[in-house]
Amino acid sequence: MSSSPKYTWHKIADSIAAIDFSSTGLTEIEVAGKTICLGIHNDTVHACTHKCPHAGGTLAEGYLDAAGNIVCPLHRYKFSMQTGRNISGEGYYLKTFPVELRNEGVFVGIADSSLFDWLK
Ligand code: FES
Repeated sequence: MSSSPKYTWHKIADSIAAIDFSSTGLTEIEVAGKTICLGIHNDTVHACTHKCPHAGGTLAEGYLDAAGNIVCPLHRYKFSMQTGRNISGEGYYLKTFPVELRNEGVFVGIADSSLFDWLK
């Protein structure tokens, strides 16, 4: 049984500087038909789903705290953009996506999924 997901990598920008982050260091983009939230902290880009797992807050309208955790604008729950861990302790999990900086640009990996993945 395979436990590591396979990713399809999507180029999202020529460089980090080409990504239009707001003053909070967050933005939303469309990748492979999904809306995802990007955040930049210490010159590193992270990606996660755009809706908060608690009650659907739009995470790009929140902000990053000093440690680079994303803070939801609705109820202020905090999540690590690297691991998806709910730092403020409410027990939710934020789906994250890997980001790679390559010579050709910035890429986000979207896991290939299938209804039959559990058979592998
Ligand atoms: S909707 Fe995000 S913390 Fe409640």
